[in-house]
Amino acid sequence: MEKLTQWLHPLKIFIALVAIGFCFQDCSSFRAIDLTGSSNSSSVSQSLGTQYYQTNITPAFQQRCITCHVAGGVGPMTIYDYSAMKAKLTSGMSSLNNDLMNKVKNVITHTGGDLCPGDVKGNVSPCDLIKRWAVIEDPLSAVGPTGVVTAAQTFGQISGWALDTQNQANSLSVLVYVDGAANAGGTLAGTYTANMTGTGNPQSGHYFNFQLPSQYMSGTSHQLYIYANAATSDNLLANAPYSMVTQTGQQFFNTTVLGKLTTCKGCHSPVDYPTERAYLASPGVGSGGAANSNTLITNAAGGLSHSGGVQCPGGLNADPCLTMQQWWLIEFGQ
Ligand code: HEC
Ligand code: HEC
Repeated sequence: MEKLTQWLHPLKIFIALVAIGFCFQDCSSFRAIDLTGSSNSSSVSQSLGTQYYQTNITPAFQQRCITCHVAGGVGPMTIYDYSAMKAKLTSGMSSLNNDLMNKVKNVITHTGGDLCPGDVKGNVSPCDLIKRWAVIEDPLSAVGPTGVVTAAQTFGQISGWALDTQNQANSLSVLVYVDGAANAGGTLAGTYTANMTGTGNPQSGHYFNFQLPSQYMSGTSHQLYIYANAATSDNLLANAPYSMVTQTGQQFFNTTVLGKLTTCKGCHSPVDYPTERAYLASPGVGSGGAANSNTLITNAAGGLSHSGGVQCPGGLNADPCLTMQQWWLIEFGQ
């Protein structure tokens, strides 16, 4: 019996490790679609749009429309069906002008009348929710500034695109708030210009790519509230808040850098975090140090008369030098 418990214990650890490993591979995608800020496993299989419909649209409709839209009532139950409503939502020109919005506003004749009286730009409930849902399903259906986060790397680079559908020649800035919405506890981490080329039309020319400042590379998850042009709820990127798992410099060194320094171990000892970080940190940021210029990477690239010669045969943007640059960004990027 004792043997069995001894055997079970490591098995549990093993299972836990497998579960964690699975999460590391998959979490970025499901966290990215998390709107509530709390990650739960049920959201893994749900698309962002389905999730928004279930957590926001359905309860609002149940509350507001139940007098008619109820089993045995005059209104059809189709309004509680995701596919039926999405078909109406995506039938039309924009987040403000589509079959669902027009039905609810009685632009398309509705027995229930106009449920958003006085609404102009989708700011009366539930039209505000319908507008947001449309933008989540199709960011380009927005009327005005819009966009999405397309990727967040463990070393802190966040990319996506942002543009104004009403004025596509404009380059917008993106405002990045961390751990809360603007005016709701978030901290402005930076403002960046969305003017890079990338895939898709009209998105190309409107991409951004920024480094999350090193102070946020804390080894925890951060909620990113990213806005196009101005920090208003209408301008929140379609998949924001975007949940991002960060690594500290030491975590990144252990998980990613160290494994790429095996050749160094032939001549150098120790090859560990404090030793390599001291080379990475020299010279400092104010003294000319940069991701692609410091004692560590320059020696690895064969500079500074390195006796070990060229250890990055593919250049600075190939491993192990590429990973060294990413590590530098975590430690000193802003
Ligand atoms: C006074 C009763 C009444 C209220 C309240 C009401 N509706 Fe309706 N609704 C109807 C009836 C009856 C129909 C079917 C006939 C029609 O299209 O007008 C309908 C149809 C619809 C349809 C079309 C469904 C389909 O599958 O084609 C949508 C969408 C809709 N309602 C949305 C809403 C929403 C959203 C609310 C609440 C915010 C709401 N309605 C409140 C009576 C109502
Ligand atoms: C074939 C042996 C050899 C290999 C392999 C080698 N080095 Fe070196 N490295 C040396 C020697 C010897 C020195 C000390 C003399 C000098 O500065 O060139 C040195 C110096 C350095 C220095 C400067 C140390 C100081 O005190 O300024 C750094 C940084 C460095 N190496 C990094 C690396 C990294 C990173 C790798 C692996 C990607 C690597 N080296 C692989 C032999 C090697």
